Amino acid sequence: MFKKETYIARREQLRKDVGHGIIVIPGNHEAPCNYKDNTYWFRQDSTFLYFFGLQREDLVGVIDCDNGKDYLFANDYDIDDIIWTGPLPSVKELAASVGVANSGNLKALAKKLAGVKDFHYIAPYRSDIRADLAEWLGLNYNAVDRYASMELTLACVKQRSIKSTEEIREIEKAISTAYNMHVGAMKLAMPGRYEYELAGFMEGEAWKGNGPVSFPIIMTVHGETLHNHGHNNKLTKGRMLVMDAGAETAMNYCSDITRSVPVGGKFDARQKAIYEIVLGANMEAIRVTKPGITYKEVHQAASRKLAEGYKGLGILKGKVDDIVAAGAHSLLMPHGLGHMMGLDVHDMENYGQINVGYDKETRPSEQFGLGSLRCGRRLQPGFVITDEPGCYFIPALIDKWKAEGKCKEFINYRELEKWKDFGGIRIEDDILVTKTGCRVLGKPIPKTVKEIEETMAK
Ligand code: GLY
Ligand code: MN
Ligand code: MN
Repeated sequence: MFKKETYIARREQLRKDVGHGIIVIPGNHEAPCNYKDNTYWFRQDSTFLYFFGLQREDLVGVIDCDNGKDYLFANDYDIDDIIWTGPLPSVKELAASVGVANSGNLKALAKKLAGVKDFHYIAPYRSDIRADLAEWLGLNYNAVDRYASMELTLACVKQRSIKSTEEIREIEKAISTAYNMHVGAMKLAMPGRYEYELAGFMEGEAWKGNGPVSFPIIMTVHGETLHNHGHNNKLTKGRMLVMDAGAETAMNYCSDITRSVPVGGKFDARQKAIYEIVLGANMEAIRVTKPGITYKEVHQAASRKLAEGYKGLGILKGKVDDIVAAGAHSLLMPHGLGHMMGLDVHDMENYGQINVGYDKETRPSEQFGLGSLRCGRRLQPGFVITDEPGCYFIPALIDKWKAEGKCKEFINYRELEKWKDFGGIRIEDDILVTKTGCRVLGKPIPKTVKEIEETMAK
């Protein structure tokens, strides 16, 4: 937890920004896996963490904009719980630890919310919380999402988008753990091993950093499948291995790093050619990212580097600007350049991507590829964003576009046939927008061909 003044200041700011009514911020419950007492790993809700910082399940935070008070509600544990959990602080003590003066049990919560008409909550992503909100506020379960507060949502986005120095420190801690995960796994990426061995190693390194992984590990010799969560393939020479993995700190700040390495540790000519193109796009994004530019423009700058590279290989043809305008390069990168990162690996995605990554000025594109960009808006100092270009030869997609003759003036489909067995490459860093440009966060993780080959030779 940060010191309590951090949470007091965040709630005060939220109260000011929302301005009226009662804000309800439920923490998460335990989630049963296969029966009630066998639960998934407990993950506190990120909005609750941001404003109340507490890890216990079943807590409810209330910020009253009308009387200026904050509250924490939950039932205290009794001796029947304590036998299983050990001694735990009371709700009152928990409240005091984050500067909340008022607390009570769930009956007191029901009383506080009874008959309230001017309320605010974030649209829930779990059905148990939806049911709670319906009960507390006297709503129909199916109407809960509809009554979610846009004022609260946008006020949360406004605060959480700008990371403070203490948040950056946490994110860099999560990246230090990712360093150990990635560098260790690189050294293990030898023929004969299985993806699950490396994924298992990474999970262990994440827990050694005192947190879980920040999302299910992607560890695959079929990197052309963007979020490939299967880990059963044997590593064989000639394959690129895509490793997309990060960790959470004990306070749930995240890292999200991708490295792609040749199985065995030596890039062959084809692998090196594609790798250098993707690396060029990743570096171009770092070069141009600064306050005032939109991330959509950064995506397009990285796209120009990709298009230029593919032109050099004879896969694309025509003018680079025309290729990018037509979206022809997106055949090989159907996703966006990046997303915000913080307490969530895709930060604040539960608020709705349109509310987080876009605004009145910058609207999402409808174009294939660019349309999948999660954050397009104008950058401000303090934003933490991922820079994750990739190149994926997806046989089914290539076949589909070819059959449709899509962008055929820009794509050399005959040449592309030769690459259909390649797989994929992605390179992902987490970057902080500074006053004048940007900074790649954390201890540098081997990224150039030379650095990767040297690391894997050790
Ligand atoms: N880890 C998934 C992503 O990079 O967005
Ligand atoms: Mn990632
Ligand atoms: Mn990412």
